[in-house]
Amino acid sequence: MKHLLSIADLSADEVWQILNLARELKEEWREGGNKPILKGKTLGMIFQKPSLRTRVSFEMGMIHLGGQALYLSPDEIKLGERESVADVARVLSRYVDGIMARVFAHKHIEKLAAYSQVPVINGLSDYNHPCQALSDLFTIWEKREKLEGVKLAYVGDGNNVATSLLFAATKVGMDMALASPEGYELSDDVIELGWEFAAHSGSKIELGRDPAAAVREADAIYTDVWVSMGQEEDTERRLKDFAPYQVNAALVAQAKPDVMVMHCLPAHRGQEITDEVADGPHSVLFDQAENRMHAQKAILALLLNFEL
Ligand code: CP
Ligand code: NVA
Repeated sequence: MKHLLSIADLSADEVWQILNLARELKEEWREGGNKPILKGKTLGMIFQKPSLRTRVSFEMGMIHLGGQALYLSPDEIKLGERESVADVARVLSRYVDGIMARVFAHKHIEKLAAYSQVPVINGLSDYNHPCQALSDLFTIWEKREKLEGVKLAYVGDGNNVATSLLFAATKVGMDMALASPEGYELSDDVIELGWEFAAHSGSKIELGRDPAAAVREADAIYTDVWVSMGQEEDTERRLKDFAPYQVNAALVAQAKPDVMVMHCLPAHRGQEITDEVADGPHSVLFDQAENRMHAQKAILALLLNFEL
């Protein structure tokens, strides 16, 4: 049995296994519906934070594959408060075939995995967001028909989403440029892992402060909110520090003419991305949102059938 806690734990072959299966399942779904390959399987979904995409795409993914998902709200479980994380894992894994959890502290998802008898999937922690980045690779692959040598420019906060994107890109030989303000860079540990994966895959990594330099020759420009869930107290300082990092029409014009603009959503329009760009011809925001469901079906099929 395997869990999905971080893309860093996957081999390039495993990443490609997920992408290939996502493509098959998306085609099958578009042609009239998926086969019930998860018939009788259940997924328990623990949420410590709000969600639209993760909750609905996992739930629909399970339903389309013939299984069922159970939503457990932040008030219901009170992970680590009402009872210990280890006991939640021990109990829940007696009832369900897989657990997906969105947590604040990454150590909590690690603990769930350590004590669960069934696969645990990370649906976002303060450290990373693997399901998002795997589906984003799928979106880029669909649009470009390849990943090796494709350049992804990430502009903004070196946060959970940026971390998973770096791991994902460097596993499959994509080049990645990151531009973040001082004090908001990816952590040294994350960058070190990125270099390690890049040494195997041939990815190039550029780290800097200048958004214009990062997007030069980029195939995709990616941004995320400046204030992640749990950082609300720091809003004023962050809005000031990130102001020069907005993805707007002037920045997009400096990338390749057919650059795609990406955002994991939810977006704070007028902050990290303008309406003009989010709704403009380069935007693939809603294809990304749809692809969460297709990529996660692949993850669920592989993990709940114990084949990864
Ligand atoms: N991108 C993403 O994870 O969205 P939600 O927070 O709505 O799940
Ligand atoms: N970085 C954001 C991503 C939300 C999907 C957050 O953690 O709030």
